[in-house]
Amino acid sequence: MIKLTTNKEFKTRVRVFDVEKTYEDLDKIVELGLMKKEGGSLFSNLNLDRSGEIYLVADMNDYEGLRMLGYNLAGTLRGAKVKEAHLKCMNPNLIYLLEGVLHSNYEYDRYRSKKDDEPNVIELSINAEHKEAIGKLENLMAGIFTARDLINTPPIDLYPESYAKQIVEMFKGTDVEVEVYNKKQIETLNMHALLAVASGSDKDPRLVVLKRLPLKEKEHVTIVGKGLTYDSGGYAIKPASSMASMHSDMSGSAAVVGLFKALSLNKVEKNVVGVMALTENMLNGSSYKNGDIISSMKGLSIEVGNTDAEGRLTLADALYYAATKLDSTEIVELSTLTGAVVTALGTDMAGVISNNDALYEEIHKAGITAGEFNWRLPMTKELDEKVKGTFGDLKNSIPGGAGAITAGIFLSKFVEDKPFLHLDIAGVAYGSKKKYYKEGAYGFGIKTLYQYIINKK
Ligand code: BES
Ligand code: MG
Ligand code: ZN
Repeated sequence: MIKLTTNKEFKTRVRVFDVEKTYEDLDKIVELGLMKKEGGSLFSNLNLDRSGEIYLVADMNDYEGLRMLGYNLAGTLRGAKVKEAHLKCMNPNLIYLLEGVLHSNYEYDRYRSKKDDEPNVIELSINAEHKEAIGKLENLMAGIFTARDLINTPPIDLYPESYAKQIVEMFKGTDVEVEVYNKKQIETLNMHALLAVASGSDKDPRLVVLKRLPLKEKEHVTIVGKGLTYDSGGYAIKPASSMASMHSDMSGSAAVVGLFKALSLNKVEKNVVGVMALTENMLNGSSYKNGDIISSMKGLSIEVGNTDAEGRLTLADALYYAATKLDSTEIVELSTLTGAVVTALGTDMAGVISNNDALYEEIHKAGITAGEFNWRLPMTKELDEKVKGTFGDLKNSIPGGAGAITAGIFLSKFVEDKPFLHLDIAGVAYGSKKKYYKEGAYGFGIKTLYQYIINKK
C-alpha cells in the first residue's frame, strides 16, 4: 500500500519535470535516450541502497495523463521495493497524479484464501501545501473503493436485504440518514413496476433512500441509481457468458452509496438525496413474463416485450418517487441500462439522455475533469413515438435500433417536469483491467457526480 504523507525528506526522490518548462538536466537525460520529453515518460535511476531518483515528465494540464503517470510511478516504487520516497512539486494539479498513485492501492481479495500480502507500506511524502487537497482526495477514493467492493461482491452475498443492511451499517453515526422500505412498504407505495421485476426472485426487494441535507432549505439534487443485484434476464434469459457479470447491474446504486460516503467525509455543504430500488431479476413460477402488461407507481401501464429490459421498470418507479415524494430540484440517474450504449459509444464513455441543456453542460464538464467521459445522444420525436405501447401506455422493449435512446426516453416519462439527466454506464461500469483500474468494477460516476455537486452554485 502506498501511503501519502507530507514534508519528509527521504533518500529516494521523485522529480517532476513540467513538459511546458525547460530544464537543462532534463535535456541531458533526453539526449542520453533515457526518457522522452513528453508528458507521461518515466525513468528511474535507483541504486541498490534505494537512493537515487525517479524522473517524471508530466503535462500538468492533462489530468488523465497525470493519473496514468501516478499509477505507473506507484508500480515503479513497488517494483524497486522502495520503502519511502519524497516528491517535490508545487503545482496544484499534482493532485491528479496522486489520484493515480492511490488507484494502485485497490485490491479485491475478499474471496482469496491466501491474500497477496504486501507487508511494506510505502510512504510517499509530498509538500505540505497539498495536505488539504490530499485529505479530500483520500475521502473521495474511500467512496470509490467502497462502491467497487460492493459491485465486485457476488450475488450470493449481495442481494437487496444484505445490501440495504450494509448501507445502514456504513452510515451509522454519520450525517447521512438512511431509509429502507421493505416489500410491504413498496406495495403501499404502489411501485408495481419494481414489484413485477422482483416477482421472480426468492429475495424481497428494498427501496433505499439516502438523505444528506446540511443546508437549511429543503430542496436538493436527487441521484437515482439502478440497483439490480443480479440480472439473469428473467424469462428472456441471458446466455451464461453475458449473465456471469450481472452482479454488476447495481453499479449505479453503488455509485450513489460511494458518492454519499465521499460527500459526508468531506463535509460538502450541498443538499443531496439518493434513491435506489434494489432487486434481483430472476425466473420462477411467479415471475413476470414476456407479454405481460404491468402497472407502475405513476399509473402508466407498460407492455413487457422483454423481461430483460427490467432496469427501466425499476427506475420508472424510483424516478417517479424522486419526482413526486421528494423536494428534488433536478434528477440525475445512473444505470447499467443497455447493451446498445456499448454499441454506440464503446467502453470508455457513458451515454447521456437529458431533457435539459444546462444540466448536460454541467455533467459533461464534470466528466471531463473526472476522467469519466460522457456524451449526449439525441431525443427525437420519431423515437418518442416508438416508446408508446399497442395495448398499454408504454412498452419496455423497442425494436428498430437506437436502444440506448429509447431506453432514456422511456425513463423521461416518469420524472414529471424535473430537469433530468440519465447516464447509461453499461459500457463503463465493469470489465477488464484498463487505465489505472484493476479488473472488475471501476466505480464509474462517483467522481463525475462529486465534481458536479461541488461545482454547483
Ligand atoms: N443490465 C442489462 C444491460 C447491460 C448490458 C449492462 C451489458 C451491462 C453490460 C439490461 O438490463 C439489459 O438486459 N438490457 C437489454 C435491453 C433490451 C432487452 C431491450 C439489452 O441491452 O440487451
Ligand atoms: Mg436486463
Ligand atoms: Zn439489467
